[in-house]
Amino acid sequence: MATHSLLVLYGSQTGTAQDTAERIGRQAQRRRVGVRVQALDSYNVANLISESLVVFVCATTGQGDPPDNMKNFWRFLFRKSLPAGSLCRLDCAVLGLGDSSYPKFNFVAKKLYKRLLQLGANALLPVESWVSAKPTLDYWSETGALPAFFSDSWRWWEIEYNYFSLPMSLMNLLPPDDQAPPSSVHPFPARMVSNERVTDPSHFQDVRLIEFDITGSNIQYGAGDVVMMRPCNITEDVEQFCQLLRLDPDCYFILTPTDVPACLPQPCSVRYLVEQFLDIAAVPRRSFFELLATFATNELERGKLAEFSSAQGQDELHSYCNRPRRTALEVLTDFPHTTAELSVNYLLDLFPEIQPRTFSIASSLLANPNRLQVLVAVVRYKTRLHKPRKGLCSNWLASLDPTQGEVCVPLWVKKGGLTFPQDLETPAIMVGPGTGVAPFRTAIQERIAQGKTANVLFFGCRSETKDFYCHLEWEEKVQAGHMTLFTAFSRDQEDKIYVQHRVKEQAKLLWDLIANKNAVFYIAGNSKQMPTGVCDALKEVFQQEGGVTDSQAQEMLDGMEKAGRFQSETWS
Ligand code: 2AM
Repeated sequence: MATHSLLVLYGSQTGTAQDTAERIGRQAQRRRVGVRVQALDSYNVANLISESLVVFVCATTGQGDPPDNMKNFWRFLFRKSLPAGSLCRLDCAVLGLGDSSYPKFNFVAKKLYKRLLQLGANALLPVESWVSAKPTLDYWSETGALPAFFSDSWRWWEIEYNYFSLPMSLMNLLPPDDQAPPSSVHPFPARMVSNERVTDPSHFQDVRLIEFDITGSNIQYGAGDVVMMRPCNITEDVEQFCQLLRLDPDCYFILTPTDVPACLPQPCSVRYLVEQFLDIAAVPRRSFFELLATFATNELERGKLAEFSSAQGQDELHSYCNRPRRTALEVLTDFPHTTAELSVNYLLDLFPEIQPRTFSIASSLLANPNRLQVLVAVVRYKTRLHKPRKGLCSNWLASLDPTQGEVCVPLWVKKGGLTFPQDLETPAIMVGPGTGVAPFRTAIQERIAQGKTANVLFFGCRSETKDFYCHLEWEEKVQAGHMTLFTAFSRDQEDKIYVQHRVKEQAKLLWDLIANKNAVFYIAGNSKQMPTGVCDALKEVFQQEGGVTDSQAQEMLDGMEKAGRFQSETWS
């Protein structure tokens, strides 16, 4: 936990002050400062006497009135009974948002500032010092001003920067919070230790068991938690993109906005921006075509882009773009004239940021200290147009080879959806075909290390010899009496055998565990039909062994779910 913490409190009427407060919060986070951002009325104002550093961000409404969500605070603060020195431990700064064309410009901020000083608070900055340029706010905050924003995007950023940058003098008061665990703003560069294909080379699917070294990261995780990673674009795509836009990838540029994305260095090379940040491999949205259309001078291209941007053109756009899962980069190749004229200033408007991907963690810290493993199915498929497609993150991960030199992947962890029983005796029944087994591998390793041996795993794959990964590990644990394993190899015989078939076969055992031993039942996996199939099998178990009707079986399942005894995590 952070020992030094900044509190940002806002009073906002239209959302601008809130947005500004959140921005300040993000700036603080980027400097690794512990920070909380709250609306003034959702903050218990009596706690103010024990705060050490607060930034107030407030708007002025009407004729110098405070915004609605700081009215209670306002009344409290101006109580006559408050003793003069009550805020003597507080260091504070006040940022006012207002429109200078109003006579009571920033009245609330000025009045608040005076009152805080009266109550003994120490002002770190004069109220005016935030503003180094004085644009009127409505210049940029009007949503109706979108075309101006697009045509003048860069200047917009600069103005915003001048107006709202949190003064360094304030930030320097706070030592960085080095103990904070890695997050999306500060991922941990984890060294890849190994990247091993765990399916037979002759098998259609490439599945990787990838191990990272997280020594010194302060990352803690447990069964059910997930790891987040942000993939990069592949080199050929980066090069093709730069060629199409006639950009020199080795050029550097400086971004001036307040919200310079945390993962972009300053100055930043074009290569870095395109490789690490711009999502050029995703299917673009309609707004992409709208903005592209404003650049088009070639008549043919302009006509097509205008059609794709229009309400009438949405079916056409769907067939062109969504159905074949065409990437933004491929769209650019279809509009070469327009693309060649794109200005670098609009790249951040055109392309969204590459989003981090979530993977279930597949190893336990108790069994593998300082390590974190994931099981990744490398996504390659054909669309209806039969063009091969590749999943960005899994293919990027698969391409990294730690035997050829050091590879680091920035990552952080988050709580996942699955939770496991605390006490020693409660059994865990886990159904995880394919890479769905990942969270259960963590759980089984962790539970065994904690002395919990009531572990039942149902694993399914196509073939015992081709994609039965982790089998040696399971064999060893089964031998030791630490788990029970049931396998379903769907294609090793004529008729498909799936995990749900095994669930039904084990009706007696499962009923005993669930009805008499309070077992928790889990499903994880990436098949769309699988969870339904397993639920149906489980209901059949209830009917057969518990003598209940179909609807009673459903009620039992619902009851288990409510009580946290039936949990599932599925993905596509
Ligand atoms: P299949 O590909 O032979 O159909 C891991 O992907 C395993 O899950 C594979 O053996 C796969 O079998 C199986 N699987 C596919 N669909 C399923 C479903 N609806 N229910 C259970 N397992 C399924």
